[in-house]
Amino acid sequence: MDAIIRQKFKDKYATNPTICLHAPARINLIGEHTDYNGGWVLPASIAYHISFAASKVNANAISIYNENVLEDFHFDLQMNIDINTLSNWQKFYYGAVHLLSRKFTLGGFQVLKLGSVPLGAGLSSSAALACGFIACISKLFTFNLEPLEIAQLAQQIEHEYLGVQCGIMDQFAVVFGEKNHLLFLNCSDLSYKALPFSLGEYEFILMNSKVKHSLVDSAYNERVQEIQTVLSLMKEQNFDYENASQIKELNLQLIADNTLKNRALHVLSENQRVLDFIQAMSVNDWQTCGDLLTKSHNSLKNLYEVSCDESDFLVDTAITLGALGARQMGGGFGGIILMLLPKSTKESFQEKIWQLYNHKFNLQAAFYPVEIVDGLAKSL
Ligand code: GLA
Repeated sequence: MDAIIRQKFKDKYATNPTICLHAPARINLIGEHTDYNGGWVLPASIAYHISFAASKVNANAISIYNENVLEDFHFDLQMNIDINTLSNWQKFYYGAVHLLSRKFTLGGFQVLKLGSVPLGAGLSSSAALACGFIACISKLFTFNLEPLEIAQLAQQIEHEYLGVQCGIMDQFAVVFGEKNHLLFLNCSDLSYKALPFSLGEYEFILMNSKVKHSLVDSAYNERVQEIQTVLSLMKEQNFDYENASQIKELNLQLIADNTLKNRALHVLSENQRVLDFIQAMSVNDWQTCGDLLTKSHNSLKNLYEVSCDESDFLVDTAITLGALGARQMGGGFGGIILMLLPKSTKESFQEKIWQLYNHKFNLQAAFYPVEIVDGLAKSL
């Protein structure tokens, strides 16, 4: 990977980069919409990367070149830009420089970005971009940011510059991922264990539905807000919970609004599914793991209401065609469907589900194999 990006950097800026690094994308096996609720998640970093090469320049100028779309973005350390004129990707870069310059003294620099992460599919290309860029600047100017600081700054960019109140799972997985391991992360205190992962005769595949309904960010923030409302209603009843994962299910009876009750029930049941998944995985009971994936999907669909027709169709069809289980992965409303299959059936399974989906929605899905690799921290 280094050789390609070095060469591209040299072609663009007529000099060698002083640093190169690669931030992986992530998957999450189970534990969806639990991270900002102080719950459990089970992500891993995978072999799709956003790479950066960079060198300093003797001026206050910042140049960022996106090799994927052949687009330049220039600004300077004065940062006199109207953020409303920026695209989402530009906001990440701008946000990173803005946040870092509050703490450190930056100089000018030039960067080339090259990515292989499918965009908008729910593999956290944005977390890879933000973490990778922050790590790149930190390394270039020897700010020596700790891995956790990188993840937290990247999350802060989403909150402050993109307006998405996301949790920490994506950034954490991008930074702390370990080759052939899953991260069993407790989002209430960020303690985690890396669990060895090997599937034997089974395999996870990722099917990109190629659908991303536009309400994803607004619905995401709406869910964050709904959970806040649940917590304040609980407080009115003298139950002072810090997050939804602490709620005792029995006490949800005190909430009259069924929609709000369902949101909290999703969080509580999903946390339990993560624990059950890990238990089943430890004895190679992949059928139970598959059932838990499908239950997770049904909860996302019926209780948390973040699914869509395309995702539901793919999950149902996958089960009919012999998958052990399947579910929509990530924030919701389309994106990637995670499916657990016997390896031996993969080829014919993919062919059949592709055809059925294409026939129903006139969309051309894509499949990605899962290879679990080291996160960004290993290359800092
Ligand atoms: C998005 C967010 C994550 C997490 C998932 C849902 O990927 O960025 O923080 O909340 O949705 O599990």
